[in-house]
Amino acid sequence: MNELLKLIQERHSSRMPFDTKHPIAKQDLLQILEAGRWTPTAHNMQNFEIIVVDDEKLLESIGNIKRPVSETFIRENYQQLSFSEEELRRKKIGILASMFPSSWRNPDFRLDSKDEKADPSVQRPFPACPVMLIVVYDPAKRAPASEGDFLGILSLGCLMENMWLMANSLGIDFHIMSSLSADSVEKEIKNILHIPGNLKIAFSCRLGYLITTPGKHLRVRRDISDFTNHNKFGNKDL
Ligand SMILES: Cc1cc2nc3c(=O)[nH]c(=O)nc-3n(C[C@H](O)[C@H](O)[C@H](O)COP(=O)(O)O)c2cc1C
Repeated sequence: MNELLKLIQERHSSRMPFDTKHPIAKQDLLQILEAGRWTPTAHNMQNFEIIVVDDEKLLESIGNIKRPVSETFIRENYQQLSFSEEELRRKKIGILASMFPSSWRNPDFRLDSKDEKADPSVQRPFPACPVMLIVVYDPAKRAPASEGDFLGILSLGCLMENMWLMANSLGIDFHIMSSLSADSVEKEIKNILHIPGNLKIAFSCRLGYLITTPGKHLRVRRDISDFTNHNKFGNKDL
């Protein structure tokens, strides 16, 4: 199989704790950043700054930030859940419910209720890692005529993918943590890392090596024919 395609198919999310005693070699980190450097961005604006955090105390401070989960998140997250591998295989989109704390599998979950108290994992203890990347951008510097900086944000997605592919190709595990962009969390991270107030966190990720080898979990995708249309929307004859 084509090497690039294999790499793309094998890129994956690693959500378990990483070994904090196993640092990432400087040359590997630089290769990940080099992959980021060559990201395509709208108007080649290169609309990002990356903060590499490998200081134990800083990682601990970030790890101690409370990451509140919202009822909206739980309700909308629920829509993407499958409750068995068979269901996930059939749907071909979404994720297995077993990845989440049990109370998140209840769409009627209420904060400050017995649901939350009965499940301490709702507070989401932060999985350990030797390195974290915090990617920030300036929302005031939008790509030309791009409403809501849609093109700038797409560009940040390209950056994420470039670095993710590079990390996995080096055998380094990678975990995106969108919860670090939530307003209250972002504010604390910006304080800890001295990030200027006008910048926003685009995404944050953990890098490292898993402590235990995870069991194989099902990863699904739609078939090409499910999302491809030939010449006219709805034509499925490619
Ligand atoms: C924009 C974006 C945000 C994501 N946020 C999270 C996140 O907060 N936590 C997480 O565990 N995975 C997150 N992911 C990873 C996706 O859940 C994951 O890519 C998807 O389920 C497919 O699994 P795979 O990466 O193993 O192929 C995010 C991915 C993207 C592209």
